[in-house]
Amino acid sequence: MKSTLSVMILAGAVLLSSSCGRQSAGIQRGKRMTEEQGRIVRNFNSGWRFCKGEQPAQAAQTDFDDSKWEAVRLPHDWAIRGPFNPEEHGYAGKLPWKGVGWYRKTFELPAHWQGRRVYLDFDGVMAFPKVYVNGQLAGEWDYGYMSFRIDATPYVKFGQKNLVAVRVDTRNQGTRWYPGAGIYRKVTMTVCNPVHIGHWATFITTPQVADHQAAVNIQTVLENHLGTPQPATLQVVIRDPKGNTAAQGMQEIVLPADSQQEISQSLQVLNPVRWDITSPNLYTAQVSIQTRDKLLDAETISFGIRTFEFTADDGFHLNGRRVQIHGVNLHHDHGPLGAAFYRRAMERQLEIMRDIGVNAVRTSHNPPAPELLELCDRMGFIVWDECFDKWDDKAGRVDGQPPLEEYGHKQIRNFVMRDRNHPCVVVWSIGNEIGNLPGTREGKSGPRVKMMRDFVLKYDTTRPVGIADCIPETANEPILDALDLVGWNYDRRYSIFRERYPHKPIVYSESASALSTRGFYELPLPTTKTDYSSALQVDSYDLNAAPWSDIPDREFALMERDSFVAGEMVWTGFDYLGEPTPFDEEARSSYFGIVDLCGIPKDRYYLYRSYWRPEATTVHILPHWNWPDRIGKNVPVFVYTNGDSAELFLNGKSLGRRVKGQVPERPVNLAEGKPVSASSVQTEQGHPAEHAVDGDSQTRWCASSAAKEEWLAVDLGSEQPIHRVLIEFEREAKNYGCRIEISSDGTDWKTAAEKATSTRPHYGGPREHFFAVDAKARHLRVVFTDFRNNCWASIRRLGVYSKEVESDYYLPTYRYRLRWNDIVYEPGELKAVAYKDGNVIGEAVMRTAGAPARLRLTPDRTILAATGEDLSYILVEALDADGNLCPLADNLVRFSVRGPAEIAGVGNGNPMSFEPFQADYRKLFYGKAMLIIRTLEGRTGNVRIQAASDGLQEAVAELKVQ
Ligand code: GAL
Repeated sequence: MKSTLSVMILAGAVLLSSSCGRQSAGIQRGKRMTEEQGRIVRNFNSGWRFCKGEQPAQAAQTDFDDSKWEAVRLPHDWAIRGPFNPEEHGYAGKLPWKGVGWYRKTFELPAHWQGRRVYLDFDGVMAFPKVYVNGQLAGEWDYGYMSFRIDATPYVKFGQKNLVAVRVDTRNQGTRWYPGAGIYRKVTMTVCNPVHIGHWATFITTPQVADHQAAVNIQTVLENHLGTPQPATLQVVIRDPKGNTAAQGMQEIVLPADSQQEISQSLQVLNPVRWDITSPNLYTAQVSIQTRDKLLDAETISFGIRTFEFTADDGFHLNGRRVQIHGVNLHHDHGPLGAAFYRRAMERQLEIMRDIGVNAVRTSHNPPAPELLELCDRMGFIVWDECFDKWDDKAGRVDGQPPLEEYGHKQIRNFVMRDRNHPCVVVWSIGNEIGNLPGTREGKSGPRVKMMRDFVLKYDTTRPVGIADCIPETANEPILDALDLVGWNYDRRYSIFRERYPHKPIVYSESASALSTRGFYELPLPTTKTDYSSALQVDSYDLNAAPWSDIPDREFALMERDSFVAGEMVWTGFDYLGEPTPFDEEARSSYFGIVDLCGIPKDRYYLYRSYWRPEATTVHILPHWNWPDRIGKNVPVFVYTNGDSAELFLNGKSLGRRVKGQVPERPVNLAEGKPVSASSVQTEQGHPAEHAVDGDSQTRWCASSAAKEEWLAVDLGSEQPIHRVLIEFEREAKNYGCRIEISSDGTDWKTAAEKATSTRPHYGGPREHFFAVDAKARHLRVVFTDFRNNCWASIRRLGVYSKEVESDYYLPTYRYRLRWNDIVYEPGELKAVAYKDGNVIGEAVMRTAGAPARLRLTPDRTILAATGEDLSYILVEALDADGNLCPLADNLVRFSVRGPAEIAGVGNGNPMSFEPFQADYRKLFYGKAMLIIRTLEGRTGNVRIQAASDGLQEAVAELKVQ
């Protein structure tokens, strides 16, 4: 039974305003009203036992002997300890996450709680958990990223020991990255009176917001589990960010027996202070229900007063002003900690992202731990809250079952009800890159998209509902009509949508997918974005991206051009486990991050910081300056700065000043406009040989057949030095095999360079290919030797250069970076002095380091809480005798910890490392590693951490746990 009552509550008709209690912050009216009377919320993370593998059904029973099981504390991800299986494909991190695991915990409920309701709240279990209480199945869930509640009341015993057992099974979980395994987020036990406020039932909205006044609606559901009607008083107290009462109201009600009753109230807050990304002011609403002498239940909910709007023509507006979204996508794992969620690990992620100017987070591609939203509320980030990646097994639907109609509603209900009070949430996303029906099983269609949106609207109508799409042609069909906005991933794929739906807002929900390995540089520079190193690492000059995506600079330029787009969300802020494009088979974690898997900045970090935070001084030099094999050879130097120019000095000698926006002179194409001939020509279609050298990539030469050995030749007019040859093929360069031949007389040819067809990159890829030639010749000929994917001999552009030449693709880099391409390396000191409007704003110095001599430990925090969940991240570095960072050091470091703390994980940002994350040792990777220390519950004192490595002076760090 459900009835709704709408009540306007008048300020002043109330007696009460103070709060008490940690979690239940109830109302005090006389001394008998204690927390014990109201709601009791207990952290349920400690005292578990775990066993991996299927167990007899008996494992759910109270008399089962679990003494041999491992004692664990939540959050727990059983797979992160490994071992890695290097033979496996890297998409899910090569870790043993597939399988069954069991957890058991005993707990006591005091006899005097008899009659109360007992709920177990799971924030996330990967996956398909079955929860048994005292041997009986109390409830189960499916989707591993969703929070859910189990009502344990019918199964618990008061005044006795109780057992909860959880069986977890990840075998049917689909994924495109590392999902983790087990009870990887917190669990809470909530004990309530039989009359209480419903779970996630209180919903606070601010339907009218003006400078002098805001209307605050508080809608809640009260549950009466008693067989008799219950008279009670419902009270709401709103406090402003300073804790002062801003509005309050009270209402006498009678809850019918065994009922759920929805009650709406409206209060006015005068002169509201806004929640904003620059000033994340939070109000609280304390909702309580009580009888004459007893507090029945109370909860305190944070909310924000703000207005926002996604516009079709002018992006995103927050509190009336346009805010350019500088966002990042974040996957759910925390590197060496795996999927196990720690509030501090998340807070640190956000602190690191905040430093580069990030103001938005997309929870790709699943509901986050609830703490992420609490932190974004408090720290001032807006959030694109996403429910699903796909709607198939990656959402926990096995072979299309249960039907999407049922399943979608069940998941979206929890998703929206849990998260809807967070002011940070500004978009509900119903999925990511879901293919279209009928081509994709479990794909999207107009009716399905509308259905999912309607599910969201049942629980919240105050935010837009969107999706992230990647198929431009989706916009040609009425699939996206029901949505309020659409996110588009990569490559300006929103262009058709923009034309067809000019009134719908657009977010660039994934940009960049740029790739790099922290600390790894390889020369010469890549010639195209997919010209990857063969070292299974990606060069850190920030010139590589995934085939379908782009380097950061091109996205900056695109967002400046398309100001109707709300802004970009970079793929990704942090490296994550799995999806190691472009070495998907070999590696175990991604190369996409702006920071590495441990949160150590890559060079790109400073590129974003310099652009997204123009007011903050950034001067960053790359690469490192330890190139013993390149003395006298070229080592390009880039500087990332918020300045407009910089001067570079090598050992005190100026190497010149570079100014943003100045592009170096481009070499002449010796072939342009020169006489050409070809083995054959597709004349009727208009593809003559001249089109290869007309300077226009829209036109092309094409042979008249698909045969091999078709050729195109150019006469340069006189003998010329040739350093580079560029061919822009009709389609992706990987589809063509060819050789470059040169000749002085046009009859006697010799091979100067060649290329084979390739299957890489798997998807897409550039059309351009650069050949290194280094010869002299008058005639040059391109002979096609092989094809893939039904390609024919065909050239859009033939470039012949006597000097180094760079792809036009990289032109935007000169707008956002300062580049010295021609530096000749000598060891010593490299210094950049940056300027803005003619004034020096800062400098950076890089020195050639000698051999590693000592270690250095730098903790991010030295005072920790004895919660068993607090963390310190300790950066480990190698220095030479003079204190310079050693950028190539790979020494093995061993750690020891004395005092009340333990090692939670180790890492070093190397996507190819198969060393365990849970160990007391780690090799440095390009000079650095990370040690993560966790406190022990209830144990305080000093912690001494020691790092030692053969031949190096050891380092010590001291922490205090209180
Ligand atoms: C996108 C996808 C992401 C991730 C990314 C890598 O297409 O939505 O989940 O796979 O590509 O570039």
